[in-house]
Amino acid sequence: MKLLPVLAGLLAVLAMPQPAESAAPAVMGEVENSMVLTCMEEAKRLVDKAYKDRRESLKQRLRSGSASPMDLLSYFKQPVAATRTAVRAADYLHVALGLLKRKLQPLWPRPFNVTDVLTPAQLDLLSRSSGCAYQNVRVTCPQRDKYRTITGHCNNRRSSTLGASNRAFARWLPAEYEDGVSLPFGWTPGVRRSGFRVPLARAVSNDIVRFPTEQLTPDQERSLMFMQWGQLIDHDLDFSPEPAARVSFITGVNCETSCLKQPPCFPLKIPPNDPRIMNQQDCIPFFRSSPACSGSNITIRNQINALTSFVDASMVYGSEDPLAMNLRNTTNQLGLLAVNTRFSDNGRALLPFDNLHDDPCLLTNRSVHIPCFLAGDTRSSEMPELTSMHTLFLREHNRLATKLKSMNPLWDGERLYQEARKIVGAMVQIITYRDYLPLVLGPEAMRKYLPRYRGYNDSVDPRIANVFTNAFRYGHTLIQPFMFRLDNQYQPMGPNPRVPLSKVFFATWRVVLEGGIDPILRGLMATPAKLNRQNQIVVDEIRERLFEQVMRIGLDLPALNMQRSRDHGLPGYNAWRRFCGLSEPSMVNELATVLRNLNLARKLIAQYGTPKNIDIWMGGVAEPLERNGRVGPLLACLIGTQFRKLRDGDRFWWENTGVFTERQQQALAKISLPRIICDNTGITTVSKDNIFMSNTFPRDFVSCSALPPLDLAPWRNAD
Ligand code: HEM
Ligand SMILES: *[C@@H]1O[C@H](CO)[C@@H](O)[C@H](O)[C@H]1NC(C)=O
Ligand SMILES: *[C@@H]1O[C@H](CO)[C@@H](O)[C@H](O)[C@H]1NC(C)=O
Ligand SMILES: *[C@@H]1O[C@H](CO)[C@@H](O)[C@H](O)[C@H]1NC(C)=O
Ligand SMILES: *[C@@H]1O[C@H](CO)[C@@H](O)[C@H](O)[C@H]1NC(C)=O
Repeated sequence: MKLLPVLAGLLAVLAMPQPAESAAPAVMGEVENSMVLTCMEEAKRLVDKAYKDRRESLKQRLRSGSASPMDLLSYFKQPVAATRTAVRAADYLHVALGLLKRKLQPLWPRPFNVTDVLTPAQLDLLSRSSGCAYQNVRVTCPQRDKYRTITGHCNNRRSSTLGASNRAFARWLPAEYEDGVSLPFGWTPGVRRSGFRVPLARAVSNDIVRFPTEQLTPDQERSLMFMQWGQLIDHDLDFSPEPAARVSFITGVNCETSCLKQPPCFPLKIPPNDPRIMNQQDCIPFFRSSPACSGSNITIRNQINALTSFVDASMVYGSEDPLAMNLRNTTNQLGLLAVNTRFSDNGRALLPFDNLHDDPCLLTNRSVHIPCFLAGDTRSSEMPELTSMHTLFLREHNRLATKLKSMNPLWDGERLYQEARKIVGAMVQIITYRDYLPLVLGPEAMRKYLPRYRGYNDSVDPRIANVFTNAFRYGHTLIQPFMFRLDNQYQPMGPNPRVPLSKVFFATWRVVLEGGIDPILRGLMATPAKLNRQNQIVVDEIRERLFEQVMRIGLDLPALNMQRSRDHGLPGYNAWRRFCGLSEPSMVNELATVLRNLNLARKLIAQYGTPKNIDIWMGGVAEPLERNGRVGPLLACLIGTQFRKLRDGDRFWWENTGVFTERQQQALAKISLPRIICDNTGITTVSKDNIFMSNTFPRDFVSCSALPPLDLAPWRNAD
């Protein structure tokens, strides 16, 4: 480390007059600019080295076959392209602030916020030298635009970055951190939250979420497709990346193997009497989500959404321009998406393979060498059911582009691509708002939060709220412990009709070599979803064995959800109840009334001490379900409010004036997910309306010939 400038900086601090006792401790006096810059240089060196070490160690472990499940999870959360740049800039900034704080701490006995001791000019200097400021350059939006941008920029003309990818999440309530600015609750042993100790996330998961899988209740009125659509559209809406470097920046501790708490590692501690993990010194590894640069407010940590917020099928097309280009077939002018050139599914397209140096999918079956797929969202290979949905929409795009070409021979590749993309985007909106959300929220919450569409409103903020990324994980309560595959008679397809979920994560080889997507889609249509009951919340297949296949230790998804909400500084249960205009239970019997369950209320209070501190996911999924919905009142409010903003604040909403012609709208109104399945697979019998409700073959099934195809006539010679 260069000594002189640091000394000069320290001297400047030491020379400062002590502020009077009554003065706000915010202003300590001047810190030398040179010290600020030195810390930034040091931060860049540390961050770059951590990134480089990380890449090399992962490469080596993959080569030697000793990769851990955290490598898989890390792949699942790995930033790409522009996200990587945004993440690294924020890493520079936050590590530099951390170094500054460490240097100033010995000189200042009381707690202080490092950003309070810097001048606005110095904050600006940090912002510029880290690369964060670069993100605030204004883009000029075109006067007339027929299509969405890939990044979501310019959807809102007054504030062009609203809803764009690689920006900070919206905060509907101020963040709550242990230190007020960045450390998660549960970080420092003994520090209380509103007067109560913070329980271990794993302890809550063991005590409240866990149940014997044999007791699972199938949902008579929801199909497994209801679960799968939720994950698919979540991947249209949000992705909170983790740092690309996964070792601690400052100490070089590797958080995959070490259980030390060093940023960015925030490992989950193991409670006594854990049902699985006997060694209490062990931990479930966890990496904090990358901080956002957050423009003017760098004081309070926020996180990044790598995706466009809009319901725009970005999981099909990508949220960044270079990725979007890579996903296209640019060898001709047909407007197609690129497909797999090595394998097909009974003559139908598969997603192209990705070209990763470190490919986790290869590890799920070492003899067959099938890599991960490339799609608009990086998580497409996480499970074969999700992959099947991505594949379905890839095929639908190519089917539409081909039809449009035959009707409009003069359209070039760009026009064909954009028109097909626009139709696919509308399809995802229609299926989500017409068919899916009413079955999530139930009719009452639907009326309250999603009343009839009344046109675009450019004052509505279409960004994803930080809390939504945790609340929408309600879908984890719907997951069955198996992947189900059915043959064309809807009979279990041998030899592996029911594969435990822990054996399908990242198993792309099962799509390529075990019969393609048709058996999987039939399984999603003709199997009930799991029902979320207050004593059967999440199956052990993802609570004990998430990403287990190549494991050091299996992960616990419910516990990750809770740890994540603390990582993101999300307020607790009562704060969100208040935000939603719902009652705030203060004691056990009031909580029992809200939950209509005294036993559950007692267990929650035993863990948290107060309803205030209940982690938002846990409190949300513990509530009794709305009538004909699959979430309780709190999640109905958070999810309903988010989806209303995504609709009313989207200039390209399919029903907004001028987006489609009236005839096109009428044609689109008739589309359905079952028909899309008919049009792009070998499946000839599909669920009848509503696909998310129907779950029993043959009772709830119809022949494809009974469903109207999309009439593309309104797109003929359109201009
Ligand atoms: C097999 C099924 C699924 C698996 C294995 C899975 C796994 C995961 C994992 C590992 C994470 C990151 C956990 C963390 O470290 O914080 C995650 C996040 C998430 N999951 Fe799931 N999930 C599944 C299904 C679903 C479903 C059905 C939904 C919704 C209906 C859903 C919604 C979400 C959301 C919103 C996030 C946060 C995404 C972000 O913004 O980064 N997931 N899931
Ligand atoms: C730091 O800033 C946060 C947010 O402005 C505030 O809540 C907290 O009290 C501050 N801490 C100190 C020690 O000044
Ligand atoms: C591009 O399209 C052509 C024509 O359909 C096809 O032959 C080729 O395989 C496609 N390439 C990719 C990478 O999808
Ligand atoms: C790997 O794939 C091959 C070919 O499909 C299959 O025979 C084998 O059982 C698979 N291996 C494992 C470990 O699942
Ligand atoms: C548009 O949205 C803003 C913010 O939600 C709201 O205050 C306003 O009343 C809305 N305008 C119309 C015409 O609905």
